[in-house]
Amino acid sequence: MDKAVVIGIAGGTGSGKTTLAVRLKKAFENDVTLICQDYYYKSFNHLPFEERKKLNFDHPNSFDTDLMVEQIKDLKDFKPIHRPVYSFIEHARLAETIREEPRHVIVIEGILIFQDPRLRELMDIKVFVDADADIRFARRLIRDIHERGRDIDSVINQYLNTVKPMHEAFVEPSKKYADIIIPEGGFNEVACSMLIEKIKGILSAR
Ligand code: C5P
Repeated sequence: MDKAVVIGIAGGTGSGKTTLAVRLKKAFENDVTLICQDYYYKSFNHLPFEERKKLNFDHPNSFDTDLMVEQIKDLKDFKPIHRPVYSFIEHARLAETIREEPRHVIVIEGILIFQDPRLRELMDIKVFVDADADIRFARRLIRDIHERGRDIDSVINQYLNTVKPMHEAFVEPSKKYADIIIPEGGFNEVACSMLIEKIKGILSAR
C-alpha cells in the first residue's frame, strides 16, 4: 500500500519552522497534515501551575515521543488520529483531542524531532531550519509575550536557564541528521521552491 510522504522540519525555537510548514501547506493546496512536536508535551497536570512553569521544556524527555511515533505511523498509513492539545499558557495538556485527517503530505515540525531515531526513520525528507541565535531569541521574546502569556523577565530567564543550554546540547547536534539545511526556513524563496519540487517528484513517483 502507498504511504504518505513525511517531511520533518527541525530547528531551534524561533528559527522559521512554522513559516516553512505553512508555505508547504499552501503549495500543496492543503493536501498537507501538519503535526507539531509541541502537541506531544507530556502532561504534568498533577503538578501545581507554579511548579509546571519552571519545568525544562527543551529536554527530549519532556515529550511523549511514544505517542507521537504511533500517531505519525497511523497518518503515514492513511489512518486518522486524535492528537493531544497543549496549552502554553497553562503549561498543560488539555482534556480535548483534535482529529487530524490523513493526507498525501505529512509535515512534522519541532525543535527535537531529529533527536529520536524512531521519528527520523519515518521521514522521507529531513530539513533543518537555521537562523542566528539572536534573531531566534528576538522572535521568541515577541511571540511568547504576545501569544503565550509570558513577561520579559520570564522569557529571558527561561532562555538562559534551559532553552539555550538544551539547544546547544540537543537541537544543534541533531542538525547532522538533516538532508538539507535551510537558512531562514520559510523566508528563503529559493530553498522553498526547490523543496516543493522535490516533494512533487516523490509524490508523482508513488
Ligand atoms: O514553537 P517553538 O519551536 O519555539 O516551541 C518550542 C518551545 O516551546 C521550547 O523551546 C520550549 O521552551 C517552549 N515551551 C514553553 N512552555 C511550555 C512548553 C514549551 O515555553 N509550557
